[in-house]
Amino acid sequence: MQFKKVSLVALVGLATSVVAHSWAECIKTYEITNVEAARSDIHAPLYQKCAGYPRNKVNNGDWIAESNNYLHDLQRPGADGKACHSGQRSPVQAAGAPAATAKAGETLKIRHWGNGHSMYNKGSPLHRDPGLVRVYWAGQKEQEIVNVVDLTGDKIIAEGNFSANAIIAETEGTQIFEKGNYLDLTLPSDMQPGRHMMVWAWANNFDKFTNQWIDRYTTCFDVIVQGGSSTIAGPPPKEKSPTKPVGNGAAANAKAQCAKTCNKGGMAEYPCTGENCSPCRYFSGDTINCFEYKEGTTCPFPGGYDCKTFKST
Ligand SMILES: *[C@@H]1O[C@H](CO)[C@@H](O)[C@H](O)[C@H]1NC(C)=O
Repeated sequence: MQFKKVSLVALVGLATSVVAHSWAECIKTYEITNVEAARSDIHAPLYQKCAGYPRNKVNNGDWIAESNNYLHDLQRPGADGKACHSGQRSPVQAAGAPAATAKAGETLKIRHWGNGHSMYNKGSPLHRDPGLVRVYWAGQKEQEIVNVVDLTGDKIIAEGNFSANAIIAETEGTQIFEKGNYLDLTLPSDMQPGRHMMVWAWANNFDKFTNQWIDRYTTCFDVIVQGGSSTIAGPPPKEKSPTKPVGNGAAANAKAQCAKTCNKGGMAEYPCTGENCSPCRYFSGDTINCFEYKEGTTCPFPGGYDCKTFKST
C-alpha cells in the first residue's frame, strides 16, 4: 500500500484526471454482509462473494497489478480507439475467474472500485461529481463491440451513478474508504441463450458542449445466458430506445457553445468568435479557451470539443 500512497500524492500535483481511475472487479456479486460494521469502522471488512468475472481477469484482486495491467483508459494513446483492453478483445477467462452465467431477465450486481472518488465533499479529487457507470451490449449473442465509436447510447442497457448505494466508511477528515461500489444490470428478458459480450464503462467527464457524460475507463466481459423455457417462446423483442449521445438536442447545444466567444490560446486578451476562430474548445470554469490543431487535424488535449468536426476531443 505504501507504493499506492506515494504515487497518488505525486500525481495529484500533475493532473487530477490521471489519479481518477476504476474498473469492474466482479460481474456477479452476491452475499454482501457485515455492511453496517464496514460503514461505521474504516478497518472493518465488507464480506462479499463473486460468481462471475470480467474477461481475462489475471492478478485477480491485486489492486496495484490490476491498476497497472488491467485498467483500460480510452484516452491513453495506446488505446487506439478500441473499446476493450488488449487482453480483453476476445472471450478469454483467467483460471479461477470464470464468466458470469445468468438467466434472461436476471439482475447482476457489478462491483467496481470507488478509489476515493465516490463523494463530492470528501475523497479525491475534492468537489468533483463522480459521474456515471454504464453497460453497453451489442444486442445479440456472439457479437463484439470493438471500437469506442460503437459505444453508442442505443446499446446502453444499464446506467447508474458511480456511487449509488456505495458502502463507504468516512473519516472525520476528507479521507473515505469505499468497501463496495455497484451497478445493477438487469438483463433484457428477451436475451437469447448463449454468450453475450458487454462493456462496462465509467463516464467521469461531463462535456458541457454536448451535455453528456463521456466514457473514460472500460472493462469488457461476457455473460453466458442459460436457456430456459421462457426464452424459447419469449415476448417479442422490445423496441430499441432512441440513441442518446449526439441526438438533436446535443448537436444544437454543441453548435450554440461553438458560436460563443473564446480566448485564443487561452489568453483573455485575444478573444475571438466565429469561423476563423481556433477549432478546439475547452471549458475552464465558465470561460471557453480555444486552441489550434496540433499535427494536422488533431486537437491538442482531450476533454474538449472540436467545433469543425463537431466531435468531443
Ligand atoms: C451522483 O450522486 C452524487 C451523490 O448523490 C451527486 O452529487 C451527483 O451529482 C450524482 N451524479 C450524477 C451524474 O448523477
